[in-house]
Amino acid sequence: MKLVSLWGIAAMGGLVSPSVPASVANLRLRTKLLLSFVLLSAGLTCATLLVVRRSAQVQMQHQVEQEARNATLTFQVMEHQHQIALSRKADLLASLAYMRNGDATTIKDVSEDPWKSDDCNMFALADKKGKIIALHSTAAVFPTAVTEEMLRRSLSQGNTSAWWISNRIVYQVVLQRFYDGPPIKSNLQGVVVVGRSMDTRAAGEFSRISSSQIIFRYGKDVVVSSLSALQEQEALGQIQDQPAQEQVYLGGERFLTSSLDLTPGSDPGANLILLKSYRQAAAYLERLNQLLLGLGLVAVLAGGTLVYLISDTFTRPLAALLEGVHALEEGNFAYPIEARGGDELAQVTRAFDGMRGTLQRNEAEREQLEGQLRQSQKMEALGRLAGGVAHDFNNLLTVIKGHSELLFDRMKPADIFYGSTQQIMKTADRAASLTRQLLAFSRMQVLQPRILDLNTLVADMSKLLRRLVREDIEFGFRLGDSLGRVKADPGQIEQVLLNLTVNASDAMPQGGKLTIETKKLKVDAAYAHARPPLRPGQYVQLVVTDTGHGMDAATMSRIFEPFFTTKESGKGTGLGLATVYGVVRQSGGFIWVESSLGNGARFGIYLPRVSEKEEAISYERGSVRSKGGSETVLVVEDEDEVRSLASEFLRSAGYSVLTAKDGLEALEISERLGDAIQLLLTDVVMPKMRGTELAQELKGRFPRLRVVYMSGYLEQDPCSGEILEKAIVLQKPFSRDSLVREIGDAFEDKGFSRPLLETTRN
Ligand SMILES: Nc1ncnc2c1ncn2[C@@H]1O[C@H](COP(=O)(O)OP(=O)(O)OP(=O)(O)O)[C@@H](O)[C@H]1O
Ligand SMILES: [Mg+2]
Repeated sequence: MKLVSLWGIAAMGGLVSPSVPASVANLRLRTKLLLSFVLLSAGLTCATLLVVRRSAQVQMQHQVEQEARNATLTFQVMEHQHQIALSRKADLLASLAYMRNGDATTIKDVSEDPWKSDDCNMFALADKKGKIIALHSTAAVFPTAVTEEMLRRSLSQGNTSAWWISNRIVYQVVLQRFYDGPPIKSNLQGVVVVGRSMDTRAAGEFSRISSSQIIFRYGKDVVVSSLSALQEQEALGQIQDQPAQEQVYLGGERFLTSSLDLTPGSDPGANLILLKSYRQAAAYLERLNQLLLGLGLVAVLAGGTLVYLISDTFTRPLAALLEGVHALEEGNFAYPIEARGGDELAQVTRAFDGMRGTLQRNEAEREQLEGQLRQSQKMEALGRLAGGVAHDFNNLLTVIKGHSELLFDRMKPADIFYGSTQQIMKTADRAASLTRQLLAFSRMQVLQPRILDLNTLVADMSKLLRRLVREDIEFGFRLGDSLGRVKADPGQIEQVLLNLTVNASDAMPQGGKLTIETKKLKVDAAYAHARPPLRPGQYVQLVVTDTGHGMDAATMSRIFEPFFTTKESGKGTGLGLATVYGVVRQSGGFIWVESSLGNGARFGIYLPRVSEKEEAISYERGSVRSKGGSETVLVVEDEDEVRSLASEFLRSAGYSVLTAKDGLEALEISERLGDAIQLLLTDVVMPKMRGTELAQELKGRFPRLRVVYMSGYLEQDPCSGEILEKAIVLQKPFSRDSLVREIGDAFEDKGFSRPLLETTRN
């Protein structure tokens, strides 16, 4: 059994030795087990058969030898019994002969009958000289002369019993002398001889009793036997060729021979050869063989069936495991691999199931990461597209807006184009607002981050927000304690809050509850992992929750795309959340949205907490110098139309204006005029030299020079970004008022500009 299991384990592990033929190696495990068992049990059965057969043969040999000995013993016992019977008969006849005084004739007459019996069939009477005077027998008997000779020989040897053999006639005889007076030689009257013939019949009788064949030999001649003449010849041939031969074959039948010397010391002597047949024992052996063979076959069949059934208990789980492994191979990580019990196979199965679980998780993680990557790539591409369009639009809009403003300024309300010009201005403003949102989404707008406390910002906005939300909506604030500060552009964060509030309000047409919360939050790895791409760290969270109609997964996956809206045409631009997304991401924060259809929505904004101190924010509008001044301003802008528009605005406000189409030209002019130039108004993104570079260069030469940047968008340029954070930046497209105000503020050292708060609705 050990061998089988070893083979089984080797096969399971694919450790089939190279010497195993391919046809065997390819067999199924169950077949291998079955084959192993059948081969092994067949081998064991054969070996058992051989051993049992060998020991049965030895046993049989002993038995036959024992039977041969018994037959010999039986013969000797019978010989002895016959001798006793013959002795009695001889005594009786001797007495009779004595009484008749040895008269032969009388004796002959009276002895006619008494000697005849089953045990005795020969009677002879001899006178004191050994002359036969009476000789009777019911069987073939020796001639008188031969009888006299044998009597003489027996008497001379002093025997009282003997085997008389002559010419295929055999008698067992007993001699009894009778005397006239005391038994001394001189008184000897005669001798009585009685005998029992050992003829073919008697031999047959003995053969039957002793279950063996006999051959009676005198010297080397057969005198009588229980065999047929042919068998006799066959046996003699073999015995004479090899006298020590113990076994002879008669007609194909095997016999064990044993011989008994009947007349020890005489030559030629009489001996008896007993032939004990092996037939019975061989038949028994044959039956035993058949029985063992039958039992062996039954054992192999029953064992095979048992192995087949038992093997099912582990080939079945093995097959299940194999299916599971194949499923894994094909990438089906959801295929369940079940294990029962605690044996090695179950342990292997459990290990595979564990591996499947890990693979499944890894696969899910990979898919999630891929999804995120796709999403961020999509947003990136959309951002680039939107940013590119917005940049060009900004310059166009600056010109449209500026010139319509100039026109408008020179018109009276009665003018026939007054209304149209006003319409152009309004539309341009709307277009500018859209462009700004696109820029916000593409994270290209110029942010002016400050260190702020979100609680202050929310509290400041609460009035405005309340006005925006309908009365059937319950509006609540939950502001967390000691939030800490964040670094963000306050105007943009207000925009974020506004857009989220408007969305929440829109999601509750039948009324509901809207909550704005702020809280301090420490994000650990597990929390972050569950909300990709959030990263662990310290955050201040701004949460806007509503109990509105919520969103399904398909909507959720697209809400941050620009122009994605589920609102009716004309009711939503689909730029609200795109702006939120851009602002939050540009501020280094994250958004996490939780929603399902019918269950409201929760927008969580995570802004990184900073340790710097809060800055005071100036909400004052630069209205002091809105009328302009007389200083000299150098306007640097590569777009001709924008340059000439800005110059015209400034001139109209009273400033002396110099213009340059790029940085190099500006440097030339400043070299010529020196510190006559008091303010530099420059575009940021220009060929040859960036606005920030030009400003730095000129500031180096003329430290008192004031700088105002005009920018429609922020290119991915960290240097410019940092400089612009601290600078005065005029958002393109600008109006005459905002330009003059910013320039005025710059001269007044008013600090930073603050973009006007606006909703996505225009
Ligand atoms: N709180 C909310 N509950 C349910 N759906 C929302 C919520 N906020 C946003 N959405 C879904 O996201 C979409 C996109 O919102 P987004 O603010 O970008 O655009 P909008 O609100 O449709 O248009 P706009 O903001 O220009 O008015 C919405 O149309 C709406 O389907
Ligand atoms: Mg919206």
